[in-house]
Amino acid sequence: MTATADWVDVAAMLRDPYDTYDRLRAQGTVVRVPALRRHLVTGFAACRAVEADQVTYTADVGGSGATMARALGAKPMLRKDDPAHETERAPINPGLRAKSVRASWAPRFAHNAATQLDVLRERGPDRAELNRDYAAPVAARNLVDLLGLPEVTPEQMQRWSHAFIAGVGNLGDDADIWARCDDAQREVDEHLDALLPHLRRHPDPSMTSALVNAGLPEPAVRANVKLTISGGMNEPQHMITNMVWALSRHPEQRDRVLADPSRWSAVFDEALRWLSPIGMYPRETTRDTVLDGVELPRGTVLGVVVGAANRDPAVFEHPERFDTARSERAHLGFGSGVHLCPGHWAARIGVGEIAVPRLYAALPGLRTDTRREEAWFGWVFRGLTDLPVTWDGS
Ligand code: HEM
Repeated sequence: MTATADWVDVAAMLRDPYDTYDRLRAQGTVVRVPALRRHLVTGFAACRAVEADQVTYTADVGGSGATMARALGAKPMLRKDDPAHETERAPINPGLRAKSVRASWAPRFAHNAATQLDVLRERGPDRAELNRDYAAPVAARNLVDLLGLPEVTPEQMQRWSHAFIAGVGNLGDDADIWARCDDAQREVDEHLDALLPHLRRHPDPSMTSALVNAGLPEPAVRANVKLTISGGMNEPQHMITNMVWALSRHPEQRDRVLADPSRWSAVFDEALRWLSPIGMYPRETTRDTVLDGVELPRGTVLGVVVGAANRDPAVFEHPERFDTARSERAHLGFGSGVHLCPGHWAARIGVGEIAVPRLYAALPGLRTDTRREEAWFGWVFRGLTDLPVTWDGS
């Protein structure tokens, strides 16, 4: 029998979803949640099983696929299955491998971190807010570079990204959200009108160049650029603040990584597991099936709750603890299967090797400032909206 969780309080999940995840998991790894009109999959193995079988579990989720197409101008790779997905995904993979990211983008990422460190220092240890002064603009600048969108400011990138994210989630058809999303679409399209012909003649290492020179129809190029604007900024931004938040609460682990910088990659992965910036994404069954003993009729919408899977006690010992020395390193923070995040090396290098280590190198004693209020929000996308920080000296 399918377990039903009619007690789920979505407002409470927006504040902090982790108690809800524990209660859901206690009911079963696949539970029907009427308030969300979907089944939530909270077990690690069950989430992996869904991602390993795109024939049974499609990414082309009815309602949300149509909304995403409306928000981005056409359906992007994220709402397609192979082989159509692979056609759009394959062109961007080579430029986002570790070696390519180090060669083409690491110097830019370092420059962007240095630029924003000046802003942070200027604010000073009594007024600095890490999200506004560093994390958001660094993530925006890095994405401007990866996408190869010259003349786009970090402010524009942030505005577009927020407008697309709101549009992609606008299942309730809110007119104001569509108006902002349409403005962002028009502005991005104006940039692309000039850029795409130029990149056809002069290819460069950017993602936009890879897409436009792969022979894809132009609406597909434009939709995937907009998908990347919506998906490639918020999560790196949240990872920067999450890492500082986690290390501030665990000073012994902070001291260990500062003494041994080879540990930064473990800190990055553990923060991504412990506080996953993407908590959930959807899939839909294409036929009647059974997942972890739960019968799912064709057309069942699933929420793949990687934020919960990353705290599954069947896989992680004391999953509620932030422990950068844990031996289980594999997590689902970047998803898995064919949609595994293509930007994972860009995030590991841009955030885990550059933005956060340089912050600690530049500001001795960096820590969250407990004199001022911090704020978290969200569960599908979760992150700090305010993170006051301080450091020693002025
Ligand atoms: C720490 C930072 C990041 C996290 C946690 C993250 C997480 C994810 C996850 C979980 C997915 C899979 C969603 C699904 O299957 O429905 C995904 C897909 C995607 N991400 Fe990321 N991401 C990050 C950074 C980036 C960056 C920097 C870029 C841009 C270069 C990017 C671009 C994309 C794209 C284009 C997809 C769609 C892939 C496909 O459909 O094949 N992400 N990301």
